[in-house]
Amino acid sequence: MATKHIISIGDFDRKEIDHLLDHAAQIDKKKYDDNALRGKILAVLFFEPSTRTRMSFESAMARLGGTSLSVGSVEACSMAKGETLADTIRVVSGYADAIVIRHPKEGAARLAGEFATVPVINAGDGAGQHPSQTLLDLYTIRQTMPIDGIEIALIGDLRYGRTAHSLASALSLYNVRLHTISPKGLELPATLAASLAKKGMEIIEHDNIKDVIDSVDVLYVTRIQRERFPDSASYFNVASSYRITPEILTNAKKHLIVLHPLPRVDEIDARLDESPHARYFEQSRNGVPVRMAMLMQVLQ
Ligand code: CP
Repeated sequence: MATKHIISIGDFDRKEIDHLLDHAAQIDKKKYDDNALRGKILAVLFFEPSTRTRMSFESAMARLGGTSLSVGSVEACSMAKGETLADTIRVVSGYADAIVIRHPKEGAARLAGEFATVPVINAGDGAGQHPSQTLLDLYTIRQTMPIDGIEIALIGDLRYGRTAHSLASALSLYNVRLHTISPKGLELPATLAASLAKKGMEIIEHDNIKDVIDSVDVLYVTRIQRERFPDSASYFNVASSYRITPEILTNAKKHLIVLHPLPRVDEIDARLDESPHARYFEQSRNGVPVRMAMLMQVLQ
């Protein structure tokens, strides 16, 4: 049987996504065996900073009775001596039952999957994909409303934002109208937009969030990905060019939810945190049941 990697959200069809989210909902109701992954080991290879993804995978593994092994950074492992990612993955495959990897280079997780003899989960590869984030994003939307029929606005760095890429791809499996708002030069990559349009998704670009705030059900805010910019000057040209405030939401639908994969910098005003629209902290909490369902899928 082929190894069950999760590299891209495109590895799932709609039925598989819905099934995994149903399983996460059962887990959320404490309906799971807390020894389901007893004796299993997850290798956590994060070559970029993380709080949520890394800790929620580790928490998920612990809640299912498994354990995690990690290397702290590139500097703390033998990649600092020049070992290739391929060799590192071959070696780690002998120490663990699955590997979760975050890497600054797009395509790194796919390469890891080619050399691993255990399942690999992509926890973010450069400006590529972040499938586990998308699954928890969909889970969070589903807690409030059915995904079919929604209007969703993605605002922010849609060029480098891997969470936006994965989410837009997943939403193309549903009946969704997608609005995009981004600073000049940070639009959704043309190849991605074209492939979504080919699948029948309606994508509408706007210059200002105010043009669309009264018609959307979900507002998905993203950080400008400073670490992907070629230099500081080009980052500062677009930094702080949008900010979601309570005032901007004045004409929003009552049931609008505001999501953000986090971390945020200044793109969501902290005054919004107490608003019933704000769901981003709940969203990050949802990472645990969703990642528990993912780990059970690849390890059982
Ligand atoms: N959303 C997300 O990927 O957060 P971390 O970078 O903290 O893992």
